Amino acid sequence: MSATRTLELRQPDDFHLHLRDGDMLRAVASISAAHFGRAVIMPNLVPPITDCAGVEAYRDRIMAALPLGSSFEPLMTLYLTEATQPAEVERAAVAGLIRAVKLYPAGATTNSASGVRDMEKIFPVLERMQQLALPLLVHGEVTRRDVDIFDREQVFLEQVLEPLRQRFPALPIVLEHVTTRQGVAYVRSADSGLAATVTAHHLIINRNAMLVGGIRPDYYCLPVAKRETHRQALLEAATSGDRRFFLGTDSAPHAREAKLCECGCAGIFTALNAMACITQLFDDAGALDRLEGFVSLHGADFYGLPPNRKFIRLQRESTPQLFPSVVPAGTDTVRVFDPGMDVFWQVVATMDIAG
Ligand code: NCD
Ligand code: ZN
Repeated sequence: MSATRTLELRQPDDFHLHLRDGDMLRAVASISAAHFGRAVIMPNLVPPITDCAGVEAYRDRIMAALPLGSSFEPLMTLYLTEATQPAEVERAAVAGLIRAVKLYPAGATTNSASGVRDMEKIFPVLERMQQLALPLLVHGEVTRRDVDIFDREQVFLEQVLEPLRQRFPALPIVLEHVTTRQGVAYVRSADSGLAATVTAHHLIINRNAMLVGGIRPDYYCLPVAKRETHRQALLEAATSGDRRFFLGTDSAPHAREAKLCECGCAGIFTALNAMACITQLFDDAGALDRLEGFVSLHGADFYGLPPNRKFIRLQRESTPQLFPSVVPAGTDTVRVFDPGMDVFWQVVATMDIAG
């Protein structure tokens, strides 16, 4: 079956994206903007984005890094610290500067040192966010040394997220980059106000990709990829049509040298091929009719945003695509995610009206 097939969708959004800053930002911003209409921008810069002035300045740098005429809209977030003031969060939300606030447990991942150690310290902020119905985006892993890294998400659900949801039942929460079947089940157990982003890479790789036949730092990310049964649960959730699951690529570029060293960084750069890979997965699962919901509708709906006005066209080629293996970023290079499977689909156009 080699006939070319095409597919038109509402333009997708990326509900979890790292754009970084400086040369890296200038290298990757246009890559996301080529496919996605909007993206929720992670605030874990060094130093992190913790106030209105920081958000505005970062948003301006993102806009300046976009190609001329781009309609890409960054949906900005604030980085929650134990010192964050409810009034600052409210100011940012009311001014329309931010769409959400990101909670990193301290030490959980890249640039999370300023994150939260003692949850009680952020209760006043969460209270205010609940009043404002401003989503809390959680990096759902505990960081206690005695908890195995493969169990950190599951323990977070039990020990942190469930008590948090009981205390703030009306606070909209997104469990970011869900990686376990327990995470999927937990999100499904909630009637409203809880959703999860799912990355392209966690739908494709399990931990073997990272550890079998030699250690492959390019597949190291956080939360770390789990065993195959978990990947299958994620794929089932993503392709099920359940509105509580939507795409957040967590595309997280790092310079080659920062990945390939004694203590390599966590993060996989997928912005370039996430859409192609996901379309292939949905095609293989016989779920192309549910793709638009996962990449373009469910997330917008959760955030109270209208669907994008534009559309994209995807095309299934007769031979597998060859993605560039790296992209340049200033004097560095960034490795592009290798899905390790044939991907026949590619995004071929962005259109103002459907086909
Ligand atoms: C992200 C990064 O590099 O900023 N890394 C990752 O492995 N996903 C941070 C994060 O989202 O955990
Ligand atoms: Zn991330």
